Amino acid sequence: MEYQPGPGRNQLFVPGPVNVPEEVLRAMNRNNEDYRSPAMPILSKSVLEDVKRIFKTTTATSFIFPTTGTGAWESALTNTLSPRDKILTFRLGQFSLLWVDQMQRLNFDVDVVDVDWGAGVDPAVLRGKLQADYNHEIKAVCVVHNETATGVTNDLAELRSVIDACRHPALLLVDGVSSIGALDFRMDEWKIDVALTGSQKALSLPTGLGIVCASPKALEASKTAKSLRVFFDWNDYLRFYKMGTYWPYTPSSQLLYGLRAALDLIFQEGLDNVIERHSRLGHATRLAVEAWGLKNCTQHPKWVSNTVTAVLVPAHIDSTQIVRQAWKKYNLSLGLGLNKVAGKVFRIGHLGHLNELQLLGALAGVEMVLKDVGYPVKLGSGVAAASAYLMQSTPLIKSRM
Ligand SMILES: Cc1ncc(COP(=O)(O)O)c(C=O)c1O
Repeated sequence: MEYQPGPGRNQLFVPGPVNVPEEVLRAMNRNNEDYRSPAMPILSKSVLEDVKRIFKTTTATSFIFPTTGTGAWESALTNTLSPRDKILTFRLGQFSLLWVDQMQRLNFDVDVVDVDWGAGVDPAVLRGKLQADYNHEIKAVCVVHNETATGVTNDLAELRSVIDACRHPALLLVDGVSSIGALDFRMDEWKIDVALTGSQKALSLPTGLGIVCASPKALEASKTAKSLRVFFDWNDYLRFYKMGTYWPYTPSSQLLYGLRAALDLIFQEGLDNVIERHSRLGHATRLAVEAWGLKNCTQHPKWVSNTVTAVLVPAHIDSTQIVRQAWKKYNLSLGLGLNKVAGKVFRIGHLGHLNELQLLGALAGVEMVLKDVGYPVKLGSGVAAASAYLMQSTPLIKSRM
């Protein structure tokens, strides 16, 4: 039994999974194929090489697992660390919380710094922890670049400079699930050892691929890391790469063709233009929130996220009701508040293959829902603020100039 679809398109504004472009849907609409044929390496090599461009790395080795972001986390940890190795990490929302949970269940010794939900990683705290670690017991610093639950983006360049200033040898492992391919991300420049993402976010693919890039230092660490690993073992991949870029087990060829098409779309637009577009959409959303008289869950402008905005609602309103009403009445999907911020925030995802007018439609929907649930918003106020800004900031479409 399924819900009948509503009329028109579902306005999918959860912060992943996101809309899949027609070009990607068409590229995936194909039969299964012989993945041991000589045709496969042509596709494999091209996607393994080109995903590195969205991580901005030329030195890392890429792995594409048939998994989700959670599997990519596990791959990053188990390939580089041994049981009881010390990890320093920060819990600032539901996704960093779940990563911590995974680290603990994998038997690492996890030093968790709790951060207010709505704040980002404080470089001074990182500095203090690293300076106190005379014996270099911390083997990895794990950071979620963009905490999707609260709309907080951490400043990775700053965190890297702290690690360098402390001359600490810990690996830097970064969750880029809701950032890579949408936000400024520079794996090589920021000397990130393992960076990872999932296909259903900025790449605008269906869920099902976990993409991991490992620096030479991370690959070196994997040679001595003793964590038990099977499905996510980089070694199995490396062996098959040597045999001509095949896969250790059956690849999802449809998703790989989809990935090829998704990368082509990003490169046609230009990665830096894609990042700019996200910055515009994020800014426009924040202007709308301000015009509605509501507050962003993100506590300081330095942490605002250009892929997701978590909006705080007044105490007498349950944000879950907003999300439910949006879906039931306007066929608009917004993100729920999760865990500590359940009922307190709703989230507007603005990432992936998305343009200005689509966003304005969603913002109009949010205004109507806010009014429906009794919040005294002036209809059109957020849309006016966002559209005035978008009108002057949106460039001509590159392919139509
Ligand atoms: C920042 C972040 N990390 C990890 C995950 C987990 O990814 P998945 O649900 O694909 O396993 C998510 C999911 O939304 C996320 O937003």
